[in-house]
Amino acid sequence: MTKSILPPIGWDRSGLPGWAYFSQELFDLECEKIFKTHWQFVCHVNEVNQNGAYVTFDISGERAVVIRGADEQVRAFHNLCRHRGSRVVPDARGVCNKAMICPYHGWAYNLDGSLRGIANKDTFPPMQAEKWGLKPLEMEVWNGLIFIRFQPGPQPAVAEVLGRFDDEIAPYDLANMVPATSNSFSETIPVNWKSVRDVDNEGYHVRQAHPGLHQLYGNGYFDEPFDNGTSRSVGTFNEAYGHRWSVRKYRELLPEAVHLPKSQQRQWIYFGMFPNFVLGLYPDSVIFYQELPQSATETLQRGICYRKPDESRQMKVSRYLSGRIDRDTGAEDQMLMIWSCEATKSSAYEGVVFSDLEYGVKTYHDHLRHLMPIIAQPTVPELGQMARRNSEILLEGIS
Ligand code: FES
Ligand SMILES: [Fe+2]
Repeated sequence: MTKSILPPIGWDRSGLPGWAYFSQELFDLECEKIFKTHWQFVCHVNEVNQNGAYVTFDISGERAVVIRGADEQVRAFHNLCRHRGSRVVPDARGVCNKAMICPYHGWAYNLDGSLRGIANKDTFPPMQAEKWGLKPLEMEVWNGLIFIRFQPGPQPAVAEVLGRFDDEIAPYDLANMVPATSNSFSETIPVNWKSVRDVDNEGYHVRQAHPGLHQLYGNGYFDEPFDNGTSRSVGTFNEAYGHRWSVRKYRELLPEAVHLPKSQQRQWIYFGMFPNFVLGLYPDSVIFYQELPQSATETLQRGICYRKPDESRQMKVSRYLSGRIDRDTGAEDQMLMIWSCEATKSSAYEGVVFSDLEYGVKTYHDHLRHLMPIIAQPTVPELGQMARRNSEILLEGIS
């Protein structure tokens, strides 16, 4: 059964113009207007669960490190040595002993980011240590999830943005979950990041493109439109017999998730937060996934699965099976992303026409158009004019 949130009569079903899916100049603008200025999920606090443990995060030419200090505090910094700009911690994740030692010339920073020591200090003029620490980043921990932001932006605090879901999220006890070793992924897809979002923002394709997922929740799936930069989708299990082994076994073996209200024990629920974060609440685990644009035509998609620390054996098997269903779904989605992104370069491409079931894609596009009105233009602006023209349209809108 589809939930009846009907789009307004006569809504614009046409989507973004094709050029928006391969313009490098637009990509540069998106880095500035979207990815640097909106909250980015880095990791769960339990992934930095000892003093000196760190996780790094890169996006839009920016580099961050989130690290737990000797005082147990988690902090976020630019992962940028103040000497010549090297990465201070080189790996995606790891543990520093008492200090972060820059791999280039060996400057040392305390775990709280302050400068600890300079190699061959006497070869520099006198320097005040307090002026040469790592540059801090804005950070927010929400239900155990660590978010950072490289520049101030239009988004309120994560707790406020996602606040309307508090009651639904609370029973999962997200803050005390731990990373699972399975069901995590990181993959580069040869498409513009918006093609990933467009596929993910609607469930119209589930019946045709995802036989496993369709068997799992059949018609019991619906998407709500983007509202203030967040979205919600729910799939209630279809308990009828199905051919797919992994889905059948998953529904059979999934134990009663007693920590959840009855209504959520047989549901997969997804919450989206603009621009690139999705949280999936399952009875057996919680997953997140996120698109990290690498260029106008390449996107890294990554996801991590979290489980309860006292997970039962049967729940573990169920989690394995839900991961299998998701892996199949992910591979199926990738083809759709590639084909729809490729299409925007075809001489036959005349844009798209959305069904009412794809209203979530449209409302997400509205959010983009609001921040970057230039993408409402049917033709690509003259080379070198993208940012200027976008600012002009924004100013025209204000005056
Ligand atoms: S760049 Fe870090 S010590 Fe030189
Ligand atoms: Fe999909």
